[in-house]
Amino acid sequence: METIQTVSSMKKTVAEWKSEGLSVGLVPTMGFLHEGHMSLIRQAVSDNDRVVVSVFVNPMQFGENEDFGRYPRDLDRDSAMCAKEGADVIFSPPASEMYPSGFCGYVDLAAMTDGLCGAKRPGHFRGVCTVVMKLLNIAGPDRAYFGQKDAQQLAVVKRMAEDFNMDVEIVGMPIVREADGLAMSSRNSYLSGEERAAALSINRALAEAAKLCGGGCRDVRHIKNRIKAVLSGEPLLRVDYIEVAGMDTMLPLDMLDGRALCAVAVYAGKTRLIDNVVLEA
Ligand code: PAF
Repeated sequence: METIQTVSSMKKTVAEWKSEGLSVGLVPTMGFLHEGHMSLIRQAVSDNDRVVVSVFVNPMQFGENEDFGRYPRDLDRDSAMCAKEGADVIFSPPASEMYPSGFCGYVDLAAMTDGLCGAKRPGHFRGVCTVVMKLLNIAGPDRAYFGQKDAQQLAVVKRMAEDFNMDVEIVGMPIVREADGLAMSSRNSYLSGEERAAALSINRALAEAAKLCGGGCRDVRHIKNRIKAVLSGEPLLRVDYIEVAGMDTMLPLDMLDGRALCAVAVYAGKTRLIDNVVLEA
């Protein structure tokens, strides 16, 4: 498994592949890979001739009091997992390579990032859009793969590719869950046994929302109240937000009409978890 750390050699490798007429897939990650990432890598390997997995814990998308310093990292393990799935290269640059001295550019998608996680994590999506734009420019992929668990991120990256006329297909992949329903996340490694057990209510609450919608409920306030009621049954959980928004706009809705994203962020102890379900009205 080749690991590349510089922008110049990543660009050179991709240019060689392209000169041979090979297609390229990119799976952007922050490492500490789990089955959710593996599903993206597998899809990328099946769709493309060559696959790059980027492993970069992007300082720009973390707030001051967030977990950048303690975010889990294990490049050897990530590398072995990528090799097993047939990826070709891990791109793992140091921060100084991505943000050299004098760096001052950024990409901001305004209204789409004002709500949901954007409202709770100021500057987060600016960091995400900036690093994803850079990774797409460096790896020049035909396709890039993102998980639906970060639904706002997926919608924002799709919009960015469209707004900036980028020649890349953004492929969204379904949420991967543990057998007991917990959405996979590198941050699940922070959870104590009790917090993890409490966190199972998140998926239960979202399932209740989908059931209400399936039963004909169109009133978003009613759906949010139901989610809140389920979550408040767990003393170890603290709701950060519960929101229902347009799938492509990420703007909040009062009534359901068509497809909508029902998303939550919940603290289990000190760990912030996100999850969502698509409601089909
Ligand atoms: O979803 C993530 O892991 C990150 O936000 C991403 C897309 C790799 C950008 O740093």
